[in-house]
Amino acid sequence: MKRLPEIKTMTNSVQLKFAATFLVLIAVLAVFMNTYPTIAARDLVFSSKKASLQNQAGVMASALSAPEELTSDTVPAVMDQLDLRSLTRVIVTDEDARILYDNAQYDPGIGRYAMFSEIARALSGEIVCYSDYDGRAFMTREAMPIRSGGTTVGAVYLYEYDETQAQLISSIQNRLRSVSLIVSAAAIILMFIFSRALTKRITELAKATRIVSEGDYDHRIPVAGHDELSELGTEFNSLTARLKETEELRRRFVSDASHELKTPLASIRLLSDSIVNSEDMDAETMRDFVNDIESEAERLQRTTEKLLSLSRIDSGASLTRERVDLRKVAEKTLRLLHPLAKENRVTIATELQKDCFVWGNEDLLYRVIFNLAENAVKYNMPGGTVDILLKSEEDEVILTVEDTGIGIPDEDLPHIFTRFYRVDKARSTDAGGSGLGLSIAHDAVKLHGGDIAVEKCAEGGTRFVVRLPACPEASEEGGTEA
Ligand SMILES: Nc1ncnc2c1ncn2[C@@H]1O[C@H](COP(=O)(O)OP(=O)(O)OP(=O)(O)O)[C@@H](O)[C@H]1O
Ligand SMILES: [Mg+2]
Repeated sequence: MKRLPEIKTMTNSVQLKFAATFLVLIAVLAVFMNTYPTIAARDLVFSSKKASLQNQAGVMASALSAPEELTSDTVPAVMDQLDLRSLTRVIVTDEDARILYDNAQYDPGIGRYAMFSEIARALSGEIVCYSDYDGRAFMTREAMPIRSGGTTVGAVYLYEYDETQAQLISSIQNRLRSVSLIVSAAAIILMFIFSRALTKRITELAKATRIVSEGDYDHRIPVAGHDELSELGTEFNSLTARLKETEELRRRFVSDASHELKTPLASIRLLSDSIVNSEDMDAETMRDFVNDIESEAERLQRTTEKLLSLSRIDSGASLTRERVDLRKVAEKTLRLLHPLAKENRVTIATELQKDCFVWGNEDLLYRVIFNLAENAVKYNMPGGTVDILLKSEEDEVILTVEDTGIGIPDEDLPHIFTRFYRVDKARSTDAGGSGLGLSIAHDAVKLHGGDIAVEKCAEGGTRFVVRLPACPEASEEGGTEA
C-alpha cells in the first residue's frame, strides 16, 4: 500500500510556506517604508532649495547689472543692501573671474581669481545650480552671470550649507525605522499565531480524513464559525454521514442477499436429503419432492438474475444503449405476463401510444415495465384490472401502471424502492417475490435520467408513474456507455 505522508510534516510544510511568503512580504514593505518617504522628502527639499537660491541669485544679478562698472567698491555697496543671512557663502566676480566681493569670515578671497568651475560656466553665460545631500547637510550651489547691455560683466556664486532640513529628514527616517520595526514585529507575531491556528484546523481535518478512511464512519469534526474551513468541516461531516449510510446499505444488502440465497438452498438440501435417506419412497412422493426442488431452483435463479441486474446498474458497467421503442417492449412484456394474469383472473387493459422512443438499454427498460406490471397482477384480486398507459408528452415519455389490487399502506410507501423491502413478507414470498423488483425498476429509471413515483389510487389500488426523457429523432449517439 502507498505510504501516506505524516500529517504533522504535511502541515508543517504548509506553515513554512505560509510564513516564508509572509516574511518576504513584510521585508519588502519595511524596505519600501524606509526608503521611499525619505527619497521623496529629499527631492522636495532639493527642488525648494534650488528655486530659492535661483531666486536670490537672480535678485543679486539684476541689482548688480546697473550700468556702473563692477569694482571692489561698488559691489559691496550694493551687496550690503541685500539680505544674505541664509547663505553660507556669496561671491561676486568680474568678467575675468576676479573676486570683487566675498562674505567669507576667514580669509575672504577679494582680488584673487575664483577657481570654481561653476563661476567659469556662469561667465560663459550658463546658469548653474545643483544640490547635494551627504546625510548630515544639504549643500546647494548656484552660479549666475551678471549681464549689462547684453554682455556678461561678472558672475554671482551662492553656496548654502543647511543642517536643519537634513536633521529633520534624518529624524523622520529614524522614526520610520522604529515604526516599521514595531509594525514588522507585531505582524510577525500575529502571523505566527494566525498560521498556527490555521494549520491546527487543517491538521484536524487531515486527521479526521485519515480516521474515516480507516473505517471509523462515526468520527465527526467539531465545527465552529462561518469561514471556508468551517464550511469544509461541515461538508466533510455530511460526506462521512453519507459514507456511513452507503456502508450500512452495502452491509445490509450483502446480508439480505445471502439470506435470500440461503433459504432456497436449504430447502433444496433438505428435500434432496429426504430422497437420498428414504429407502422406500413411492414414485408419487418422489415426483412431488423433485417438483419442489425445481421450483426452489427456479426461485434461486430468479433471485440471482435480479442481483446480477442490480450489480450491473450499480457498477455502471458499460451498457449498450440504443433507440428503444417502449411500445414494443410493453407489448412483449404483456405477452409474457398473459398466463399469470389468466391464472390470477386479472384483466390487463392497455393504451399504448405510438412514437414513444427512449435512448437507453432495452433489457433494463423491459425490466422496468415487467416488474411494475408483474406486481400489478401479483398483488391484485381475482376479477381485478390492470391499466397500462404509455404516452409521449413534450420531451418525456410517460408510463403509468395502475391496478385495483390490495394497495400499499401509507407507512410502507416511502420504503418500497428499497432493496429486499416487502410489505407483507409472507404474501410476497408466496408470490415468489424477493423484494428486488421495484428497486431494479427505480435504479434503472434513474440510470436513464428519469423519475419514478408511486401513489394510492382512489379505488384502493396503486399507481406507478415513470417519466423518461424522450428520444424522438434517430440519434447519432451510439456505442456503449455507462
Ligand atoms: N402494485 C402493488 N400493489 C400492492 N403492493 C405492491 C405493489 N407493488 C409492490 N408492492 C409491494 O411492494 C413490495 C416490493 O415490491 P417488489 O417488486 O420490489 O418485490 P416483490 O414483488 O416482493 O419481489 P420481486 O419483484 O423481486 O419478485 C412487494 O413485496 C409488495 O408487498
Ligand atoms: Mg415485484
